[in-house]
Amino acid sequence: MSLSGSQTIYGNLIDGEWSTGGELAEDINPSDTRDVVGRSARASRQDADHAIASARQAFAGWSHSGPQQRHDLLKQIGDEILARKDEIGRLLSREEGKTLAEGVGETARAGQVFLFFAQEVLRLAGEKLGSVRPAIDIEITREPVGVIGIITPWNFPIALPSWKIAAALAYGNTVVWKPADLVPATANALASIIKRAGCPKGVFNLVNGRGSVVGEAILANPDVAAVTFTGSVQTGSRVAAACVSSFKKMQLEMGGKNPLIVLDDADLEVAVECAANGAFFSTGQRCTASSRLIVTEAIHDRFVAALVARMRSLSVGDALDPASHIGPVVDDNQLRQNLGYVDIGRTDGAKLAEGGELLDAGKPGHYMRPALFTEADNSMRIAREEIFGPVACVIRARDYEEALAIANDTAFGLSAGICTTSLKHASHFRRNAEAGIVMVNLPTAGIDFHVPFGGRKGSSYGPREQGRYAAEFYTTVKTAYVMAG
Ligand code: SIN
Repeated sequence: MSLSGSQTIYGNLIDGEWSTGGELAEDINPSDTRDVVGRSARASRQDADHAIASARQAFAGWSHSGPQQRHDLLKQIGDEILARKDEIGRLLSREEGKTLAEGVGETARAGQVFLFFAQEVLRLAGEKLGSVRPAIDIEITREPVGVIGIITPWNFPIALPSWKIAAALAYGNTVVWKPADLVPATANALASIIKRAGCPKGVFNLVNGRGSVVGEAILANPDVAAVTFTGSVQTGSRVAAACVSSFKKMQLEMGGKNPLIVLDDADLEVAVECAANGAFFSTGQRCTASSRLIVTEAIHDRFVAALVARMRSLSVGDALDPASHIGPVVDDNQLRQNLGYVDIGRTDGAKLAEGGELLDAGKPGHYMRPALFTEADNSMRIAREEIFGPVACVIRARDYEEALAIANDTAFGLSAGICTTSLKHASHFRRNAEAGIVMVNLPTAGIDFHVPFGGRKGSSYGPREQGRYAAEFYTTVKTAYVMAG
C-alpha cells in the first residue's frame, strides 16, 4: 500500500492479513483541509474480536519464542523505521500537523525505541534465592502477560505506540493495537514495517476504528489480559473501571497541567526558551506541555515581555513548510476547544497578553496564534484543566516557596520544571515537586526513549512506561520452589 494519495485505504491487519472492508473515514491534512491523505477502514466489533482471538492463539508460540527471534524482529523494525524516518516523518507531519522537524524527530525516536527493546530482550534476567527451608531452591522469573490491548492517541502517532508495542513484543506478549482515528496513515506505515519484518501472524494486530466499537471490544474481551492506554482522563476512567471489573492489568497515561517555575535568579534567555518550547511547540499538543508558567515577582515583567517577543518571532504555518516553527491544531474540534478556553480565560479575569486568535495562513487549515495569559491565578479553569493546545498562563508567585505550592496544587502530576541558577532551589524542587518527571532549566516536554515515563495523581495509573521499567507492566512474576536432588 502506498504512503500517499487520497485513494489510499489504510486497512486493518488481523491474523497477518490486511483487510479494507467496512465504513471508510477520511484522513484530512490539518495544514490544508483540501488535502485528503487517505481513508481508513473502520473495523467492526467482529473484526476486533477476530484480532483478539488471533492474538490469543499466537500467544502460545510467541511467548515461548527465544530471545534471538524477538531481538531480530525488533531490530529489523527499528532499522527500517530509522532508514525511512524522513519519508514517514513527512507523512506523520502531513497527517497530524506537527512540523517536519518534529515529525522526523519523533519517527527517529520510534526507531530507537525498537532498537532499545531489541537489546532488552537479551537482558531479561530472573533471580535465584535460597529457601528458608532446607534443600529447596527458589527461582523468580518474569513471564509474558498475554494479549495486550494498546490504545493510543493522535499527538505522538509513532513514538508513543512504538514504546508500547516494542515493549509488549520484547517480553513475549501479543498485541491488538487501536490507534487514534485521526492518524491512520502513520499507523499503517508502522504496521506495514512490523509485518514486513516477519512478525508471525496474530502476534501483532492493527485495528482502526471508533473507541466506542474497537476500544470497547478490547475492554470487554476476556482474552485481553492487559490494557495500556494513553488519552484523556475521562476515557482513562472508563478504561480503568472496565479493567478492574474484568481483572485486567492496566497502565494509564492521561493528561497534565505541567508547571514551569521561573525564579528571580533564572537565566532569562533559558527561561524564555524553556517556556516557548514547552508551551507552544508541537502546537501545545503534548501531555507534557508547560501550560502553567509560575513566575516570581522580580523577574515577572521582564520574563513576560521577553516571552511575548519570542512568541512574535515564531512562525505558525503549514507543517510541511520548513519555515514553520508551529503547525496547525490537529482538527476543528480541538481548535474550537482551544478558542473556547481563550474565552474562558478572559471571562475568568486573566489578561490575554498575546495571541489566542484564528490565523489566516492563506489556505484552509486549523491555525491559531499561540495564546499567553497573564494575571492568572491557579484557581482559574485555564490553570486547572488540560487544554491540549498552544495556550499558557503566567501566574505570579511571591517566592520559591509559594511557587512550589502553586506548582503542586493541581489534580495532575506528569512533568514539572524549574528555571533557576540556585542549586539549593533546584535540589529542593527535584525532591518536592509532585510529578513523575522533573526538569531543571529544561522545558517540561522533551523526553528520552530509554528512561521511565509516567506521572502521579490524575496523570498516570499503573507501572511506568519506557526503559527497563516497562518490564513491570509487560511481564508477570513467577516464584518457583524446587526441591533439590
Ligand atoms: C506527551 O507529552 O504527550 C508525550 C511525551 C513525548 O512523547 O514526548
